[in-house]
Amino acid sequence: MDTETLKALALPTPALILDADNIIRALHTLADLRQQSGCKVLYSVKALPLSTVLATAKPLVDGFSVSSLFEARLAREILGDTGSVHLTTPGVKLGELAELDQLCSHISFNSLTQYHRFSGLAHAEAGLRINPKLSLVADERYNPCRKQSKLGASIDEVWQSPVPALGLLRGLHVHTHFAGKNYDPLLQTVEKIETYFKDRLPSIDWLNLGGGYLFNEIQDAQPFVLLVKHLADHYGLTVYIEPGKAVVGKAGYLFASVIDLFTSDGKTIAVLDTSVNHQPEVFEYQTPPELREHDPAGAYSAQLVGSTCLAGDIFGDYRFAKPLRLGDQVVFGNIGAYSLVKANRFNGYNLPDIYLHRDGRVQRIKQYSYQEFRQQWWAEGTF
Ligand SMILES: Cc1ncc(COP(=O)(O)O)c(C=O)c1O
Repeated sequence: MDTETLKALALPTPALILDADNIIRALHTLADLRQQSGCKVLYSVKALPLSTVLATAKPLVDGFSVSSLFEARLAREILGDTGSVHLTTPGVKLGELAELDQLCSHISFNSLTQYHRFSGLAHAEAGLRINPKLSLVADERYNPCRKQSKLGASIDEVWQSPVPALGLLRGLHVHTHFAGKNYDPLLQTVEKIETYFKDRLPSIDWLNLGGGYLFNEIQDAQPFVLLVKHLADHYGLTVYIEPGKAVVGKAGYLFASVIDLFTSDGKTIAVLDTSVNHQPEVFEYQTPPELREHDPAGAYSAQLVGSTCLAGDIFGDYRFAKPLRLGDQVVFGNIGAYSLVKANRFNGYNLPDIYLHRDGRVQRIKQYSYQEFRQQWWAEGTF
């Protein structure tokens, strides 16, 4: 997407611009992978649950993967009676199970206790999320296989469970990685599962390999294609993947304007009309987001900060070819996934408007208003 041309439009900021062409390209790449390998593709709603994205994805995927009752309701609203809805979450509650069961075609229980309590009550195909105890991610904050992980039943415990105790089990779910750019960790994961469950795999129907890979950035699809074919040929398994970031990550841009400039202890501070609360992972992980204007060799530097009262509301230190001026627009890239869905209105700062960019045209598809802020915080009663 040509961000310079979009800047020339001087859209009101902050604005989240979604590049529809990029999302469609990503979905087509996944559809090709599905065609080549025979796997089934679910879009992971948690990355960006925007209805426009779900409706665009619907004809190109086999369904959606969800993490909660609300996501399941939204997924079904878009899909109607067609397509699969797969749920996995540590947070299944007895009071929600009946509705979840109606909405979801597959439920992968997160622990053996959850499985034993709930699988007999559900009609959805029962699966079990297993934790293969393979730490493939160096950063513990992203690592589903960290020590004492809450994500999935330990592969050793499941292996020791007598088969009748898992009698209703139709599938296994595994998710071990984050933003993977090759398939080695996936091959290792499946190898470990096969070592443990070679004899039991033929008695289940499906294996959900989760998300965590940038499928459309991995040039050599062969290892994945061969893996899926092997699982189908040897064990009769249907293989699912549930990418989120691979579908929407690269498609999201946040446009913001410089609304104040000053120096603090010798450093140029540029205040933007946005906040790290519009991209909470910046603060969570303390990683400066990708900035289009950043020029490592640029002669000018500035710290980009957000508008809220949080002292650490800082995007990072960047370099520029020209000095920043009041009113300049800057563009953060690669923020389509896990930004807007985690965003909040701390300090009452409104969320960015959302625009769709398609075939060189831009259309505003969502504008958050004071009414939504008021509705969130207006409660009954006084004391
Ligand atoms: C169980 C599960 N499936 C799928 C995903 C989507 O992963 P990604 O967006 O990295 O593809 C996640 C992400 O946290 C997940 O936890």
